[in-house]
Amino acid sequence: MLNAGSNGSGRRGSGLREVDSAATPTLKFPPGFLWGVSTSAYQVEGNNDNSQWSVWERSGRIKSGDRSGQACDWWNNAERDFDLAQGLGLKALRLSVEWSRIEPEKGRYDESAIRRYREMLQALHARGIQPMVCLHHFSNPLWFEQQGAFFHPEGVDLFLAFARYVVRELADFCQHWVTFNEPNVYAALGYVLGEFPPGGRGKIKLGLRLLTTLARAHVLAYNSIHELQLGAKVGWAHHFTVFQPSRPRFLPDLMVTRVMNELFNETFLRLIEKGRLAFPLNHLHRKLDCGTGCCDFVGLNVYSRFHVAFDQRRFGQMCANIFVPPNVPQGDCGVEQPYGEAYPAAIRAAVERVAAIGKPVYILENGVPDAQDRIRPWLIVNVVRELSELIKEGHDIRGYFHWTLTDNFEWSEGWTLRFGLYALDPKTQERTIRGSGRLYAAIAGGNQLSPEMIEETLPGGFNAPENPVCSSF
Ligand code: BGC
Repeated sequence: MLNAGSNGSGRRGSGLREVDSAATPTLKFPPGFLWGVSTSAYQVEGNNDNSQWSVWERSGRIKSGDRSGQACDWWNNAERDFDLAQGLGLKALRLSVEWSRIEPEKGRYDESAIRRYREMLQALHARGIQPMVCLHHFSNPLWFEQQGAFFHPEGVDLFLAFARYVVRELADFCQHWVTFNEPNVYAALGYVLGEFPPGGRGKIKLGLRLLTTLARAHVLAYNSIHELQLGAKVGWAHHFTVFQPSRPRFLPDLMVTRVMNELFNETFLRLIEKGRLAFPLNHLHRKLDCGTGCCDFVGLNVYSRFHVAFDQRRFGQMCANIFVPPNVPQGDCGVEQPYGEAYPAAIRAAVERVAAIGKPVYILENGVPDAQDRIRPWLIVNVVRELSELIKEGHDIRGYFHWTLTDNFEWSEGWTLRFGLYALDPKTQERTIRGSGRLYAAIAGGNQLSPEMIEETLPGGFNAPENPVCSSF
């Protein structure tokens, strides 16, 4: 979900290593390993007009000028996509609930909205698909945003009241809860890079305050959910990005890379792991009371690697030039920037980092924007290989959720970036499976990856391996 500038210009080589299917031994996964997809309410439901994101859209802040509109029409017919997920042989689906529908005005809960979510969860179970419900995926009700969102003195309590209501109403159909999706992305894009509402730029202190507040909300939600539901499993979805020093022997590059890693990857993780931040940020908040650890699993959303170079002209951005070099595997370009390097080994870096927390891990998002399916099959094959090796090494990875089932509304990039295993035409709502969708179905259905699967699902091999030339900003 992070975009960045590109420092390269001119011709791009592919940087894409071919998948040699003959050299891929059959990789078998443990029984019960969950193959799934992830989605989020605002991106798929359609006609959401009561959240801060709808105002953001109306005020022309989507770079492509697009509107989410009907999105994937889930509010009327999520079942059509649940059929597709079942057809792919998936056993899990992560979705989120839209707070602005469930509590359209402060303190007023809409029973018909929660009934619709009950219906969706039942429909998933009926198809043999286990739901995982996320309580907050970037979208706030307008009334909550207008009163100061999580910075309002009541903000955390209001979120908790909403979370308790949802869990009470949906617990019959859901055991796995994700409190927050990517607090670090919400903080970075909303307060530092200005790409998400409320559009703050360079407000690093505010971003950090948001992270400590969300960590407190997570801990309280974790405890509340356990009070309400015996056997609940509660975690959050952590976005992990690999930052690579551009010149590995150049001290200033090493230093800015370290700062980026600390601020973006480490802050929230450390709050949940240790209950406090490391010096000099430890004065920012009271220690969180995490008892024996405030999560039952760690959810990881992993996409990209970025290179980081020291650049004293970028004072407002902590002197960091974050970019994607030429000749690395890349998906499609965003409206203004490249999306990032598609980097399967990022999964290893993320899993190894959170191993110290000692909790089961779910990969809750991984994918690439790729309308033509040039590179997604390559990504899936290499990520699955990485997962298989990590599991063999003893890491407790319980599932992989691809982002995403059908193309959907990609936040500030609108409909520009296409992440689906199915292509979607948002006007006609027509869905067309991509080659990577067939490949993923074979993997999920067989709980393994074999060379024959690659041959059979992608008979023409991969499409153009050439990288796009993204404009540099
Ligand atoms: C977000 C999704 C988003 C995806 C692709 C993730 O960071 O959770 O909502 O669509 O990235 O950019």
